[in-house]
Amino acid sequence: MTLELPAPRVVDAGSVPALRWGVVGTSIADRFVAALHAHTTQRAVAVTARDPEKTAAFAARHGVDRVLPSVAALVSDPEVDVVYVSTPHTLHREQALAAIAAGKHVLVEKPIAMSADEAREVTAAGRAAGVLVMEAMWTRYLPQSDVLRQVLAAGTIGDVHLVTADFGFALPYDPSHRLWDPTLGGGALLDAGVYPISFAASVLGAPDRVVAEGESGPGGVDVRADLMLSYGSGARALLSTSLSSHLPVRASVVGSEGRVDVGSPFFGPSSLTLTLGGGDDERSATWTDDRFASLHEGLSDQATAFASYVAEGRVESPVHTHDDVVGVMQVIDEARAAVRGDA
Ligand SMILES: NC(=O)c1ccc[n+]([C@@H]2O[C@H](COP(=O)([O-])OP(=O)(O)OC[C@H]3O[C@@H](n4cnc5c(N)ncnc54)[C@H](OP(=O)(O)O)[C@@H]3O)[C@@H](O)[C@H]2O)c1
Repeated sequence: MTLELPAPRVVDAGSVPALRWGVVGTSIADRFVAALHAHTTQRAVAVTARDPEKTAAFAARHGVDRVLPSVAALVSDPEVDVVYVSTPHTLHREQALAAIAAGKHVLVEKPIAMSADEAREVTAAGRAAGVLVMEAMWTRYLPQSDVLRQVLAAGTIGDVHLVTADFGFALPYDPSHRLWDPTLGGGALLDAGVYPISFAASVLGAPDRVVAEGESGPGGVDVRADLMLSYGSGARALLSTSLSSHLPVRASVVGSEGRVDVGSPFFGPSSLTLTLGGGDDERSATWTDDRFASLHEGLSDQATAFASYVAEGRVESPVHTHDDVVGVMQVIDEARAAVRGDA
């Protein structure tokens, strides 16, 4: 019998309202706005950052009309519907709260904030204001993630026993790089580890127990962390992150009847293979996302999803709830404390 994977349920980019985006930061925002303009009806209309020349060049590159002098000016701009926060992690809470206070929907780069407490504060403020607050965990909005959700919901791989996922890379020590700077939220866990931890959460929810070991670098920045998460169902997740080695960037979900392997890098548009049985009886089917020439074009999917949720009057993402966002930050809090040695 041929094995078949369900087709992803994709939201048509032309079916959602064309929102006007105000952008804070011009670094990863460069790729996000390029993806937005190439693959969606969403439009960046205003930008602010620190360096006036770089910000003006960003605006010219992307056809953004207005360069604004401050975050305060951007969030209060009546021509802006949604604020995209893409500054270092330490600024996410303050800038997201400013956008929410101005009545704007907000997409906050990952991680949504520096801790579970901050994530709770931001998401609660969004709900109270009746605006959509979403962490830019773009993986959740990729078609492959919808295929995975359908496979899991159908029980095709049986009871889930194990999730494995990793993301890390070798980044030579440079005290001026934000990933090595403790005052900018440096460390592997908040920047890269958030992806495997969020992947585990998307399959298994919040864990009952977190065990983490790792290694700290200068200033207490977490350089490596390996985590084992345990769940009431008996399932476990084994996750790794690193700033000192190039990890394979794969993810798998293993169940009693089979498994799903997500291609590398699992957090971006890649592929998904379902395997059932074993030995001579093994059967598999693969779904491949071949829409894009470059990885970050996949950032467009989260923007289309965002606009569809705004149209539906939602204050949180149905595939990445605020509880889920906070739960991931809780795991990061515990793992960072364990690696620092104060757990
Ligand atoms: N989804 C993804 O694939 C992805 C990829 C990379 C990063 N990220 C996330 O995006 C965030 C930013 O990462 P990055 O790599 O882009 O960082 P980055 O290269 O350090 O760039 C930070 C940007 O924020 C701006 N900025 C800094 N302080 C500011 C302030 N006080 N007010 C306004 N703008 C300010 C900087 O402006 P100037 O340049 O003008 O100084 C710069 O444009 C991080 O949270 C990271 O986790 C996501």
